[in-house]
Amino acid sequence: MNLNFPDYIKSKKVKKWILEIADLTKPQDVHFCDGSQEEYDKLCESLVQSGTFKKLNPEKRPNSYLALSDPEDVARVEDRTFICSRRKSDAGPTNNWINPNEMKERLNKLFDGCMEGRTMYVIPFSMGPLGSPIAQIGIEISDSAYVAANMRIMTRMGKEVYEYLDTDGEFVPCVHSVGAPLKKGQQDVSWPCNKDNKYIVHYPEERSIWSFGSGYGGNALLGKKCFALRIASNMARDEGWLAEHMLILGVESPEGKKTYVAGAFPSACGKTNFAMLIPPKAFEGWKITTVGDDIAWIKPGQDGKLYAINPEAGFFGVAPGTSYATNPNAMESIKENTIFTNVALTPEGDVWWEEMTKEPPPELTDWRGNKWTPDSDKPAAHPNARFTAPARQCPSIDEKWEDPAGVPISAFIFGGRRSETVPLVFQAVNWNFGVYMAATMGSETTAAAAGAVGKVRRDPMAMLPFLGYHMADYFNHWLQFGRVNPYHPRMFFVNWFRKDVNGKFIWPGFGENMRVLKWVVDRVNGYAHALESPLGWMPRYDDIQWDGLESFSQKQFNDLMTINRENWKEEVMSHDELFVGKLYDKLPKEFIHMRELLMSSLWRSPKKWGLEPEDIPT
Ligand code: OXD
Ligand code: MN
Repeated sequence: MNLNFPDYIKSKKVKKWILEIADLTKPQDVHFCDGSQEEYDKLCESLVQSGTFKKLNPEKRPNSYLALSDPEDVARVEDRTFICSRRKSDAGPTNNWINPNEMKERLNKLFDGCMEGRTMYVIPFSMGPLGSPIAQIGIEISDSAYVAANMRIMTRMGKEVYEYLDTDGEFVPCVHSVGAPLKKGQQDVSWPCNKDNKYIVHYPEERSIWSFGSGYGGNALLGKKCFALRIASNMARDEGWLAEHMLILGVESPEGKKTYVAGAFPSACGKTNFAMLIPPKAFEGWKITTVGDDIAWIKPGQDGKLYAINPEAGFFGVAPGTSYATNPNAMESIKENTIFTNVALTPEGDVWWEEMTKEPPPELTDWRGNKWTPDSDKPAAHPNARFTAPARQCPSIDEKWEDPAGVPISAFIFGGRRSETVPLVFQAVNWNFGVYMAATMGSETTAAAAGAVGKVRRDPMAMLPFLGYHMADYFNHWLQFGRVNPYHPRMFFVNWFRKDVNGKFIWPGFGENMRVLKWVVDRVNGYAHALESPLGWMPRYDDIQWDGLESFSQKQFNDLMTINRENWKEEVMSHDELFVGKLYDKLPKEFIHMRELLMSSLWRSPKKWGLEPEDIPT
């Protein structure tokens, strides 16, 4: 294929690669994205023409669009996600693996001519502020204008990126196709994808990504999970840093002291809500600021502290459940310039989803394009419906969110979705214990990934679907990271989702999480008391600030904090499923000892370790 490269692409390596992909995929045209507003507007206009986008009412939702996907292309496809390292043992038992040569053969066949009749978009992007020593550059080639438009929101996308590559700089090549070539005269559909073949493939040694068949979210916006987690976790291991599935937020005290924390939670466990938390009224003078809601890249700085950046530039948040009651900052962030996918449409041309308002509108068009009324037995929005919004529109965005140096992290918070067993909050006694606890964290599954919902699965550091190498090597990397970085953050564990005997959440959550966060921040700054429990350090009722929520009784708090010995013994026994059943060959030896220590501390604790004075072991 003959291509007219724009002058600003100087790198021979880049040109050679683009030519190779064009020769293989045989698109009708090639568009080099420059990242301008004008280009974005044109892309959106072309998506309206093709029926992928519907323009929302500009008076209600300026410069915003709704896309409805194919009903079979609605979430990340973990069973079609592959880590094709040269050796199977480097991908480990928690990843799908196929020999890279065999995978290349398969993909070459699928990609051959796969862009026929379509435009190939060349999308240069930076993960992280351009020029930051923590940032990385990628180029995504995609035959989806939807992907190009979303990438402009989610990453720093534009021609400036090429300046940082100069003539032969490093970049992560990302190739994406919806896998739906258009033969001459063939009518296109509004959401092209491939029903028979989906492949989300990573070559960790080559640091490259190939994705085929899906146009949705993390399957297609390759900067996010594929690059910023699966490939970046490999870079991080090799280079001594961390690429984590973590939000980053700042906590500012009334005295003006700022403390940054990073938090790992599995998909759809309220990361975006936590990152944008608004403290309850009684916390006058306290402020929460948002650096990121999904991914953190963390590197040791010159001073020995750890600095984090958010590699993304936008939020790809789960829409259902988001409201002015649960997350006003997110609602403000999506007022304009937003792409909505798989939410419902109101007759006025605005969007709606479950729990957005107390009362649903009387009539809607649902995410499948059908008429919907409140008595319909199906949800109006798909449970994994999303908004794509620029991070700069978030009222709580941190003043340093684009600081190339990153922000210093003082605490890590790990949390899963557990209806029982795991207390509201505790602090690990030391780094190694924290790594053990984070490595064994479990969570009930959600709609963010295709498959069963509500089953507990072990999700180490919330990275199970996102780690690009062997999980036990990752544990060793975390332990080593603690050895070489003595000023590491303190480690905390939270569970907002514990239920009572009637199946109701005990903890009110949302803004009230500030009470837990304050204890965390006070602990790292040396101001808060804690009691030693079989799991680690715990606040007593009086160690939490209750102003404005006095109705939350000591009894309720105790119900949240109780460590039920038998549950925990079962929990610790079940760690073996991961350790012995799956990761034995490379499991850090420290873990075996920590498991024993944990068992022994549970063994000597009362049947129900709680915070009532009579329950406290003497
Ligand atoms: C996400 C996810 O989209 O974790 O952030 O699934
Ligand atoms: Mn996520």
